[in-house]
Amino acid sequence: MNDAPENMIYGHSTAESRWARLGPYYAMFPLKFAFETVKKYSNRGDYILDPFAGRFSTIFSGSIIGRKGVGIEINPVGWLYGKTKTRPAPLQTVLKRLETVYKEKGHYKKAMEEMPEFFRMCFCDEVLQFLLAVRENLNWRNREDDATLMAIILVYLHGKRCQSLSNQMRMTKAMGINYSIKWWKEHNMENPPEIAPYEFIKTKLEWRYKKGIPETNPDTEIILGDSAEVLPQIVGHGSGKFSFLFTSPPYCSVTNYYSDQWLRYWMLGGADNPQYLKEKYKGRFINKNDYYDLLNTVFGQCSKLMKEKSFVYVRTDIRQFTKETTIDILTKHFSGYSMDVCPAEISRKTQTEVMGNKSSEKGEVDIIMERR
Ligand SMILES: C[S@@+](CC[C@H](N)C(=O)[O-])C[C@H]1O[C@@H](n2cnc3c(N)ncnc32)[C@H](O)[C@@H]1O
Repeated sequence: MNDAPENMIYGHSTAESRWARLGPYYAMFPLKFAFETVKKYSNRGDYILDPFAGRFSTIFSGSIIGRKGVGIEINPVGWLYGKTKTRPAPLQTVLKRLETVYKEKGHYKKAMEEMPEFFRMCFCDEVLQFLLAVRENLNWRNREDDATLMAIILVYLHGKRCQSLSNQMRMTKAMGINYSIKWWKEHNMENPPEIAPYEFIKTKLEWRYKKGIPETNPDTEIILGDSAEVLPQIVGHGSGKFSFLFTSPPYCSVTNYYSDQWLRYWMLGGADNPQYLKEKYKGRFINKNDYYDLLNTVFGQCSKLMKEKSFVYVRTDIRQFTKETTIDILTKHFSGYSMDVCPAEISRKTQTEVMGNKSSEKGEVDIIMERR
């Protein structure tokens, strides 16, 4: 196997490693783990499948070392990161779009003044006007240049004061409205930092492109959608094509990817508060039957796509319900495979710990299956 050296993805010295880190996503795989697992369980030219792709580290890692891949993600924030890192638009076209949309901001003064208190405290006037212009004018679903620009704006939408567009906030998780307002007041931060948005985003774009853009396999599909609906369409023409299924499904009752990312989701046209998503698969996966149905449907469809000789690698929550449900479903659909279950190496906080869960049952498990 003639795979790329590790330094392609570690550190910040290559185009691949720089783009691989885009952007902050909740419960993301450590890059090194994604890269090494892809290397270990697949070969050049193989097809990899990830039906719960998050920020697409699995598919991206494969794509830079000659694998083909299909990743599916229901959350547009993760999808935009995946799409952009795999195929960023040329820098000059993105800068042109930035200039155009920045010029539009003059039309959004009144709209900015009418925004709720949270937004006025989170962003200075110029940034908020700019964001409103971006929100209405970028066609990020259909244009590559707009998708790239939007992805970069999403990365820096919130985070440390003066290192992002916002007042002090976590980078990976947007806090609630009342919590944030109270926190800013208590810490004498009612006034957001004065940031010049055009210059700020331009600098971030130029940094990201400084080493070039990654060389990715053109046979890489980054799909926005619900895997339960998308996979049956792939089954029609892709049966028996995939050598490696590598994924991490949502964990039952742990994370709500939408409310944790609500501010970025607002940026993409969503509501201006975090408590609104009741749609199936977009909440916190509290209903055990819905959770079972999702995994059962998705892994059932995936099993039809696998090659005769293939591997399955699923990282999931160690707690009983999620772990046992996942093992049961995988055993049912991948009946000719051997199965190893082992605790995942802890190299970061798990989904559970980030949520402040202090239960003794911590960590994740790796379920590794093989059909020879
Ligand atoms: C544990 S995270 C995956 C994180 C990923 N391994 C990474 O490194 O970024 C699970 C992902 O599944 C996505 N998801 C949940 N239900 C889905 C569905 N029905 N179809 C596609 N994606 C879904 C969530 O939005 C979330 O991004």
